[in-house]
Amino acid sequence: MLGPVVVTRADIEEMLDRLAQEVEADMEGRSPIFIGVLKGCVFFFTDLVSRIQRSMEMDFIQVSSYGASTTSSGSVVLVKDITVDVRDRDIYLVEDIVDTGTTLTDVIHLIEARHPKSIQVVSLLSKPSRRQVEVDIAFLGTEIEDRFVIGYGLDYDERYRNLPEIFEMAQER
Ligand code: IMP
Repeated sequence: MLGPVVVTRADIEEMLDRLAQEVEADMEGRSPIFIGVLKGCVFFFTDLVSRIQRSMEMDFIQVSSYGASTTSSGSVVLVKDITVDVRDRDIYLVEDIVDTGTTLTDVIHLIEARHPKSIQVVSLLSKPSRRQVEVDIAFLGTEIEDRFVIGYGLDYDERYRNLPEIFEMAQER
């Protein structure tokens, strides 16, 4: 099932250091809330925020994802909502991967309806060739080609999230 490594541990560490620096600089003068999009964000979220020294709040949101398939279902269902009040707050929305852009767009709309001051997306990965909805990713780890990837929080049918590096799925779509 495991194909070749797409993003090595060393690549991940490098991206984490760079992103943490960029986000930390951007946080100057703000009192932000980091919102992680579960479940894929777990490792990225904790590794990122633990590299940042500034004060922040955290929360998590969960929406339905791909299930057992490797192609987008195109619709998103809210599974777990945030509990913080985001009104007039600066939000960093932390996501593992932006594929078609549907999930993130829906999550952004949901949060925007509660009138935050700003929302900026921090994503580890992006597959630009798959995009159906334009999403502004303010802080990006790296772009990847149109491959289904697993590991470092990313799953196939809820498995493989625990892998320390990011692999391509060997199986055909
Ligand atoms: P989008 O709505 O198509 O942008 O999909 C975003 C969500 O789909 C991500 O948060 C992931 O949960 C999932 N996803 C997209 N591509 C992959 C992949 O290559 N591996 C694992 N999950 C993926």
